[in-house]
Order: sequence, then structure tokens, then C-alpha cells
Amino acid sequence: MPDLIFPKDFLWGVSSSAYQIEGAWNGDGKGPSIWDWFSHRRGKTARGETGDVACDHYHRWKDDLDLLKTLGAGAYRFSVSWSRVIPEGRGNINQAGLDFYDRLVDGMLERGIQPFPTLYHFDLPLALHKKGSWPERDTAAAFGEYAAVVAARLGDRVQWWITLNEPMVAAVLGYMYGTHAPGRRNPGSYTRAMHTLLLAHGEAVRAIRSASPRPARVGIALNLSPVHPERDTESDRRAASWFDVLSNHICLDPVLRGAYPPDLWRRFGPFAPPVRDGDLAKIAEPIDFLGVNYYTRQVFAGRWWVPIMGGLMVRSKQGEFSPMWEVYPPGIGETVERVWNDYRPPMILVTENGIPVPDAPDGNGVVSDPERISYLQRHLRVLQSSMAKNIPVKGYFVWSFTDNFEWELGYAMRFGLVYIDFATRKRTPKTSFDWYAAVIRRNGLEDSG
Ligand code: FCB
Repeated sequence: MPDLIFPKDFLWGVSSSAYQIEGAWNGDGKGPSIWDWFSHRRGKTARGETGDVACDHYHRWKDDLDLLKTLGAGAYRFSVSWSRVIPEGRGNINQAGLDFYDRLVDGMLERGIQPFPTLYHFDLPLALHKKGSWPERDTAAAFGEYAAVVAARLGDRVQWWITLNEPMVAAVLGYMYGTHAPGRRNPGSYTRAMHTLLLAHGEAVRAIRSASPRPARVGIALNLSPVHPERDTESDRRAASWFDVLSNHICLDPVLRGAYPPDLWRRFGPFAPPVRDGDLAKIAEPIDFLGVNYYTRQVFAGRWWVPIMGGLMVRSKQGEFSPMWEVYPPGIGETVERVWNDYRPPMILVTENGIPVPDAPDGNGVVSDPERISYLQRHLRVLQSSMAKNIPVKGYFVWSFTDNFEWELGYAMRFGLVYIDFATRKRTPKTSFDWYAAVIRRNGLEDSG
């Protein structure tokens, strides 16, 4: 059997995000973000861990770019910290912050790596949080201004832009369940945050295109997952289809069709957000690509039914599990095929895919992670068979380049191709790093391996 070779111009990359890796949380004029504040509060993160230093990427970025070059990555997805660039979220620009990203972009280009900045990855400037946070409509306008500042500075070299990372996750975990910053638990805050985030995306698409000195390709990264009923019963199907609306359609429909799912806000009754005339046209500003973050599927059962929010749903556990989620490789194919068949985005990039493994160096200092290799390999195989059906997937980014701060779960969830000893910050490429380097070199998978 031949090797599974990917298209000639396929982009092989890795992903990261600012708060999870940079550290220097208050260095060189950076303002605090909601994560700086939240992680410093008692009991909000595992073992009280914070991103104060994280991987110290802010100081070790050259070493990290050298490692990326050794890996052979063609693209690097990172995020820009809004409050490093504009400490108060609006107004004064912190030149030192912008300079950092400027050097980073130059460093990537010198090493032949395409920069893929994401402008928002969960780290709202604290000053804007105090003025109403994401539920406040004006935050979308502030985001547009910030997007223009970054695009004006980096747009002569950056071609690919991602506005937001996972707005649904930011809204649900930050404002409904309160497990992420800013830790609110309020259905009205959640729905308003969701709507403002989507508006912010639309604002940023336009702002990037008009501020960038060169043509920009702009997209958004959505966390998508197939939602399956646990059993083939009416109540399980109903629970699964409502959860599908809440996790997938809620962003896909407005961004790619210019409409919210028909029943969505009606079901929230008094908690529905104020949607103004013209908002959906803004949100649906055409994008150049859709970023898909895929990790797992969701399996739901509906145990009983109440009208608001769809009743109690039970998430069932079956199958193979990582420390965080079910491992379900067919779901990556189901997701990209569905997105393509139902929404026809101009192009799809898998902007995150990966698995947490409790890796540790052995006696010889080798970090061996066969579970990660198996996970990535199985997902790439499925992806390849979807691509063989002419689904335009143009790139794939592993989450994550290095181990990092996994939000409320702290440093114990290691997603990296590179191991980090968080006492010394020493970097050690894992065996998955060598495996992925070989995939990139060969532009595909060995059929047997
Ligand atoms: C995604 C986030 C990313 C990381 C991975 C594991 O939802 O975008 O920051 O936490 O999950």
C-alpha cells in the first residue's frame, strides 16, 4: 500500500496561545487581562496555578522559533495578547507590546514559517471587563479598533489572520459555567457575551482588511464537535440536537449564513440577547477560511424535558478516554464533511487537534508519548479520507507546540509536542515531535506507521 501523501501545498503547523505560554504577565507595560485576575483568585485554578510565568515564551521566543524550525513546521498559530498591545483595552498603545509581536513575526519569516496570529484567545483586557465585559456591546467596537492596530503594524508581513478563538467556549465557560475567566454564572450574561463576541468577529474581519497594507486572508477558529444521542430514542435525539445547536450551529449559522438558528434565542426567553438590525450582516462578513478546532465528540442523553434551555441533559461516558475527553477519531471527518456540506466555507483549516497525556521524562531524559502519536496519526488518517472526497482542508495544526497552562486545569494537562519542565522551563522534544517532523518531511503518513 502507498503512503498517505497530502496535497503539495498542505500547511503543517502547530498552535499555541498567548496566556498559555508567554508569561511576563505584567512585563514591559502589559495591562492585566481577565485571566491574570481570575487565576490569582483563590480556588479558581488547579493548585492555584497561574500563567504569570507559564513557558516564559516572552523571553525564550527565539529558542522556541528555533525548535519550530527543527520541527519543519510551515506555519505557526499563536495569539496576540490584547492587553499587551493596548493595556486598557482601548486607547493608549503599548509600543513594547507591539514590538514583541513584530520581532516574533520577523523571526518566523526568517525561519521560513508562516505566521498565523489569532487576535483573541480568551484574554480580555481587565479594564474592558470592568466596563461591562463581553456582555457589553461596546466591547465589540473596542476589539475592532485593536484588530486595526495589530493589522496596521503586522499586515505588511502577515497574510493569514484569525479573529477569535472559540467564541462559544469563551461565552459558555466564562459567563455560564464560570469555570473560565471571568467566572460568571448567568444565562443573560452568557447570551449577551455570545452575541458581542460574534459581532466582534465581524468588526475585526473588516478592520483587518482595511488596516492591512497587504491583502489579508481572515478566518475564525471554532470549536466543533459531532453531537450524538446516547441511544436511539426520541428524548436522547432531542437532547443531542439541542446541544448541537448550542455548541455548533450557534456560531456556524450566524458567521456563515447570516442567521441565528431559528429557535435559539426564543428558547432562552427573557435571557435572549438584544440583537439589532444589521448585526447579522456584520457577523456574516465573508471570511476566507474556517478554522476547525477538533478534539472529541459529545454524547448526550435527555433524561427529562423542561421548556427553557431544553431540559436536563446527561453527558454519557463511553469509549476510549484521555484525561479530558473521549478519543474519537471519526469525529474529525464527520466535522469537516458536515461543515463543508452544510456551509461551504471557502476553505477549511484544522486549527487545533491534540490530546493531553501525563508525560514525564524517563531515566535517560527521554519523553516518550506513544498515545499522542497514535491520537494524531488516527485523526490524520480520517482527515485524509475526508480530503479524498474533495473536502478543501488546506492545513492542520497540532495543539500544542509545547506543554502549557491549560486554563483552570493548570500545568498537569500536557498537550505539547515539546515537554516543559516547569521548574526550570527546559524544553525537551517528545517522541511525538520526531514523529510529526517525519510526517511534515514526507508530507504525509507512512501507510503502515
Ligand atoms: C481549546 C483551546 C485551547 C486549549 C485546548 C486544549 O479549546 O482553544 O486553548 O485549551 O482546547
